[in-house]
Amino acid sequence: MKLYIEKDYNALSERAADIISSFLKEKPEAVLGLPTGSTPIRTYELLSEKCKRGEISFKKVKTFNLDEYSKLSPVDKHSYHYFMDNVLFSKIDIKKENNFFPYEKYDEKIEKGGGIDLQVLGIGRDGHIGFNEPGSEFDSKTRETFLAEETIEDNSRFFNNKKDVPRKTITMGIETIMKAKNILVIASGENKSEAVSKALEGKISTEVPASIIQRHKNVIIILDKEAANNLKTGL
Ligand code: F6R
Repeated sequence: MKLYIEKDYNALSERAADIISSFLKEKPEAVLGLPTGSTPIRTYELLSEKCKRGEISFKKVKTFNLDEYSKLSPVDKHSYHYFMDNVLFSKIDIKKENNFFPYEKYDEKIEKGGGIDLQVLGIGRDGHIGFNEPGSEFDSKTRETFLAEETIEDNSRFFNNKKDVPRKTITMGIETIMKAKNILVIASGENKSEAVSKALEGKISTEVPASIIQRHKNVIIILDKEAANNLKTGL
């Protein structure tokens, strides 16, 4: 496990964008697993800037998003599909047909696509990865799940009302995520520090889904200082 602790959110995002860019330079046809949420927004901006400057290209890249709200159409403003189109895909030279979202036979599609080379992950305050909430089995595959109360609360900032947050989602499973050849975790802010320390230093347990990454051979973690606040060791 390689750990970077950066001074702030912007530095964290620069580090993440640099790592993803180097990856694409080495493997232009890479298969990326991508999260939504607040944490990757600046990283995606930096990647689109690099693409505009011609430093990297997504022409041969395939992407598989981690999760999506059930029953929201791709053009619904609250869908993760819409988010990705807006924040990243419309700003880079990627082919639309190479962007995949978790609908039917997702695990098979990922395998057919060659498997995920680099899976980028955010982390929830309750230790979720994708929408694998506490209690999710380590051998889970892509499936429908229900959001935990804490996540509904957190995600309500993207909606007018907490009651508008869809409860049901489709998420890559923990096994799906762990099959990725490389994992890059990004976390920012004090409110993630407890989940981060449990995930990286705590017992590996389904109660903290992110703790499973301790078992992965190729993991890079990028935190800002606040998110690293609770870490006891330098790992
Ligand atoms: C989103 C996802 C979630 C988020 C997590 C952190 O696609 O899979 O696991 O990564 O909820 O969200 P932010 O970055 O908004 O704090």
